[in-house]
Amino acid sequence: MILSIIVAIGKNNEMGKNGDLLCHLPADLKHFKEITSGHTVVMGRKTFDSLPNGALPKRKNIVISRNPELKIENATVYPSLDYALIKLLDEDEVFIIGGAQIFKQILFDTDKLYLTKIHAEFPDADAFFPPVDYSQWRETGRETFPADEKNPYSFSFIELERI
Ligand SMILES: NC(=O)c1ccc[n+]([C@@H]2O[C@H](COP(=O)([O-])OP(=O)(O)OC[C@H]3O[C@@H](n4cnc5c(N)ncnc54)[C@H](OP(=O)(O)O)[C@@H]3O)[C@@H](O)[C@H]2O)c1
Repeated sequence: MILSIIVAIGKNNEMGKNGDLLCHLPADLKHFKEITSGHTVVMGRKTFDSLPNGALPKRKNIVISRNPELKIENATVYPSLDYALIKLLDEDEVFIIGGAQIFKQILFDTDKLYLTKIHAEFPDADAFFPPVDYSQWRETGRETFPADEKNPYSFSFIELERI
């Protein structure tokens, strides 16, 4: 199984504020959908709560929570990341989609990073991606786009593999 993280971060590793995303970047939402569709996505319970329409369609949704009573329509709840990864061992690629608590626990076990770098700073952010030691990663892809009428900031889609 390839374990991948997909995340959108600002210049200072910002990734969320008040339980929501930093900004609305439709090009990134489309990219996220294209990369993750047909695969399993694993998320923390707070990230699940932030989804506007519940479980993500066309993907197997796994939510990590310590609440043994939690039941979610169209998603499977697992009590820990380790338990989820054992259950998902037979999958080709599993996408960890957040949030900050989950990324912090999984970054060192991750094989691939799909980073959207938003070329802006977000001073009100309250959720941050953990520091990345880029000497441990090889860049395998990068595309940069300017801001436009729909996307308020310039951004880059960057793909990295662990060396
Ligand atoms: N920029 C991006 O690409 C991106 C992506 C995803 C999320 N976000 C943002 O990130 C923020 C949410 O991140 P967050 O760090 O606050 O929350 P989170 O990581 O999404 O979820 C935290 C919750 O996950 C569960 N959990 C975490 N570790 C666990 C473990 N080891 N075992 C069992 N359960 C565990 C707990 O749920 P219970 O409390 O139910 O036990 C915990 O409260 C939001 O602002 C969201 O919009 C941004």
